[in-house]
Formats: sequence, C-alpha cells, structure tokens
Amino acid sequence: MSFKEKIDKNKLPEHIAIIMDGNGRWAKSRNKNRMLGHQEGVRRVREITETCAELGIKYLTVYAFSTENWDRPKFEVNALMQLLVVTIGKEIKTLMNNNIRLETIGDTNALPRNCVKELQKAADRTKDNDRMTLILALSYSSRWEIVDAAKRIAEKVRNSESDINEINEEFFSYNMCTAKYPDPELLIRTSGEYRISNFLLWQIAYAELYFTDKYWPDFKSEDLYEAIVDYQSRERRFGKTGEQIKETAG
Ligand code: FPP
Repeated sequence: MSFKEKIDKNKLPEHIAIIMDGNGRWAKSRNKNRMLGHQEGVRRVREITETCAELGIKYLTVYAFSTENWDRPKFEVNALMQLLVVTIGKEIKTLMNNNIRLETIGDTNALPRNCVKELQKAADRTKDNDRMTLILALSYSSRWEIVDAAKRIAEKVRNSESDINEINEEFFSYNMCTAKYPDPELLIRTSGEYRISNFLLWQIAYAELYFTDKYWPDFKSEDLYEAIVDYQSRERRFGKTGEQIKETAG
C-alpha cells in the first residue's frame, strides 16, 4: 500500500508549514552551483503545492526567504530575488488553473520593488481563488512578527483604540501577520536539521513536527504523503490526557 493510499482524508491537517532546507547542499553534492539547487527547489514548491491542493489541504506556508537570509552573499540574495520574480510571473497561470490563492507574510517592504510589484500582481489576480491558499514567508522571521504585533498593539493602546485589559492570546494573534490563517497542525523541515529557525514560533505551539533527512529538491509528493501518514499516526492531546481525547472522539 502506498503512503498516498494510507492517508485518511477525514484527518487531514488544514494547514501545513514547510521549512524548505538543503538546496545548497543538494547542489554541492552534485558539484553544481547553489542556484541550481534553488531552481530545483522551485520545482518542488510547484509539485508540493499542487499535491497539497489535490489532497484538500487548505493552507500551505513555505519559508522562502528568512530575515536572516539577507546576510547571505549579495549575489545569492540578488539571484534568489530574481528567481522569485521570474517564478511568480510564470506560475500565475498554474495558480489560476488550480484555483489557488497566493499571499505573503513577512516584512515584504524590504524586498526589491520589482519583487513587491510581482507579488502584488499575483495576489490581486488570485485573490478570489478558494481551493487552497499558498502563503510565501518572505523576509519573514517569527521574532520580527511578534515585535511587529507588539508595536501595533502599543500604538492602538496609545491611541485609545484598545484597552490594555483587552490584550490576551486571541487579541495578540489578531495583530500578527498570520491573523487570518489557522495555526499549522503539521510543520515539516527537510535536510536533517532539527531546528525551527525563527519560523512561526507562536503559531506552532501545538503543531506536530516532522523532520526528514531529504534535501528540499529531493522532497517529492510521495515524501509529503509519508509525512501526512506519520502525522495521522500521532495522538494530539493539547495538554489533555490520552483518555480524555479518546472520550471526546468516541
Ligand atoms: C534553503 O536552502 C532554501 C532557501 C533559503 C530558499 C528557498 C527558496 C526557494 C526554494 C525558492 C523560492 C521561490 C519560490 C517561488 C517560493 P539553503 O540554501 O539554505 O540550503 P543549504 O542549507 O544546503 O545551504
């Protein structure tokens, strides 16, 4: 039985988040330029996006460029931005054909103008699509997002739009750039690293974490199915006892 056949369609995660890691090492292991790894990585973004949509996943967030990635050599940063612009332009058609909405989270104002324009165009064109939402985390880091939310809240309190007693977890979430998405139930990281690297720290409080040794360019649909089957084998307790969970399920 393939992993795909083992998936229980009634227990799918609504939101999957992915830390796509290992493009550089994938290229290096083949004596190729790092950019070739990123190009192959884009192919996997396409494949995994389509696969998620076909399965019925509603939200897919991919960590495409972190705040820390700005510290990479300038030529790699420029090449990644260029790759992003070209890819977005080329993929609008696929997104439309698959009824997928494209959105971004992160400090997108820090991106080059042509990138912002291309992303805006894609977001506008795909805004009415409702099969799945693909969220690109760009110039994103969780600490940036949390500080940003704290600033917004402070501003509201200063302008007397909100009262300090209103601040609770829900209110805080509402002021984050991920406000309109449910928290991911499954977080996948490729390339054998066991870190979260400043990604959705607030939102993954109860997520199941799945790590694989495969480099991102090698992560195919079958690997996604395997991750989902693994996720479905886990008991999600949210701090309760196993018995309590079984009682509510029964
Ligand atoms: C991690 O590999 C990957 C990135 C920093 C960027 C990922 C970007 C893409 C796949 C392209 C994004 C484009 C779209 C359209 C979403 P790494 O370079 O950190 O690999 P390494 O750790 O082996 O060096």
